[in-house]
Amino acid sequence: MFTLKNTIAECVNAFLAENGGEAMDIQGLLETPADIKNGDISLPCFRFSKALRKAPPMIAAALKEKLEGAIPQVEKIDAVSGYLNFYLSPAFYTEALKGIASANDFGSSDIGKGKTVCLDFSSPNIAKRFHVGHLGTTAIGGCLKNLYDFCGYTTVGINHLGDWGTQFGKLIVAYKKWSSFERVKERGISELVDIYVRFSAEAEKDDSLNDEARAAFAKLESLDEEYISIWQSFKEISLKEYMKTYELLGIEFDSYNGESFYNDKMEAIVEELREKNLLVVDDGASIVRLDDYDMPPAIILKKDGSTLYATRDITAAVWRKNNYDFYKCIYVTSAGQSLHFAQYFKVLELMGYDWAKDLVHVPYGTMSVNGEKLASRTGNVILLDDLFAEAIAKAEKIIEEKNSDLKDKHGTAVAVGVGAIVFGALSNGRIKDTNFVWEEALSFEGNTGPYVQYTYARAASILRKAEGEQGGFDGYTPQSEEIALTKLLCTFPDKVLLALSDHEPCVIARYALDLCAAYNLFYHNCTILKAEGEARAFRLQLTAIVKHVLGKCLDLLGMKRTEEI
Ligand code: ARG
Repeated sequence: MFTLKNTIAECVNAFLAENGGEAMDIQGLLETPADIKNGDISLPCFRFSKALRKAPPMIAAALKEKLEGAIPQVEKIDAVSGYLNFYLSPAFYTEALKGIASANDFGSSDIGKGKTVCLDFSSPNIAKRFHVGHLGTTAIGGCLKNLYDFCGYTTVGINHLGDWGTQFGKLIVAYKKWSSFERVKERGISELVDIYVRFSAEAEKDDSLNDEARAAFAKLESLDEEYISIWQSFKEISLKEYMKTYELLGIEFDSYNGESFYNDKMEAIVEELREKNLLVVDDGASIVRLDDYDMPPAIILKKDGSTLYATRDITAAVWRKNNYDFYKCIYVTSAGQSLHFAQYFKVLELMGYDWAKDLVHVPYGTMSVNGEKLASRTGNVILLDDLFAEAIAKAEKIIEEKNSDLKDKHGTAVAVGVGAIVFGALSNGRIKDTNFVWEEALSFEGNTGPYVQYTYARAASILRKAEGEQGGFDGYTPQSEEIALTKLLCTFPDKVLLALSDHEPCVIARYALDLCAAYNLFYHNCTILKAEGEARAFRLQLTAIVKHVLGKCLDLLGMKRTEEI
């Protein structure tokens, strides 16, 4: 498609030059008509009017005359109301399919060669359970990492664990008062959550507990051996649980440098801010004023001298730049943190770091449960463990009913159950707020992950049945379903680039759904295994390509391929 558009662009530019116009970005003007009656590619001629001093319909007519017969892949050209519509020949699609079949990893590219992208995602606060609110950052971040990898970038997945801050002072006090190493070991994060909740309740009645917590955090900050070892065990226990979820999702990180990692690196940054005259003392706290940018000040040090989330983020950005020399550093969090990122990106810019422009916040909409805000404290929360367990159990039940002879029943149920949840998290525009509804999350019908996995398995099964047969494109003229499918296949590389530039996994999710719909239509209308000769070879080859591209979509989305369902 790219070369064809390029050829069209060259011909149109030659025409403009001959008629006293200047060369333009014609490729950027080319459209895909919504209705195939209007051709496969369309060029609006309105932009040329001024330079050529002619009405668009006249220009379109003149272009038609000039281009007709000049491009071998174009069968027919129409000039309609100022548009030039190109109809491609079936042979073009056969050629395109050959190109896709012989491509080395179709859809991938090397636009990112030599560039490193840091992706900061998931990043839960330790000692808290993983809940549906974390699904967005984890699934979106994982998908973006796959997309960057697919486009040739070197990626660094960073889990910026929330493992530092005053809450650990509270947790240590609570642990010493009401818990023990054995209990934490036995009950894991649940124990940590319970004692934290108890601390909050008791501190409401007795404020001195808060003083104790502050003192405990100060002790932790000064690296007291006993406190560090308690904190370390909280971290290990939390990570052990998180790892189970990451394994289920097939997500790996290159770094688990969380907030605590920057503990001994913040002083230098605070000093730098001071030297650059950016720090102002306000009511005892050290802040960077951002009034000129219509933002509240960024607080760098609290009254008692302790550091904050933003202090650690500023420090982390500088450290990452020095260590990875990133081309972009991407942060995936809920839109609730947009101000935080805008503030500290600005602080880094004011510090004189021109690479502050390469920091990108990728926000996603907030999730509610039962129409209300997620809140661990009141219990209005759905834990990811529970969600996955339910989805897997449901998949297991369906498989048992429909295909009890399946070889790997459990493995398939895990792939489908988790796939349903991940696809659900990625298939809407990421900025949209969502309300969690159990029935929707567990739905396997309609435009869902299992539908994509099922279609993939259908293609795989057809190919298994025809194993050893030679596919091929020659000697056959594709029919409308086959052309529609081919057109869609041709757009895959563009979709990958769009998903990447917009940081929108839903582009891939929706594309996968479209591809499934087109493939299923083809499957129903054109017999594959009952066909013979060249038609059979063509359809098998087309099926192989669809399987390949759908498989890539599943990989990119972070879902498992299901060869058999
Ligand atoms: N721990 C934070 C949270 O759970 C997210 C961290 C995002 N990354 C960052 N560098 N601030 O909300």
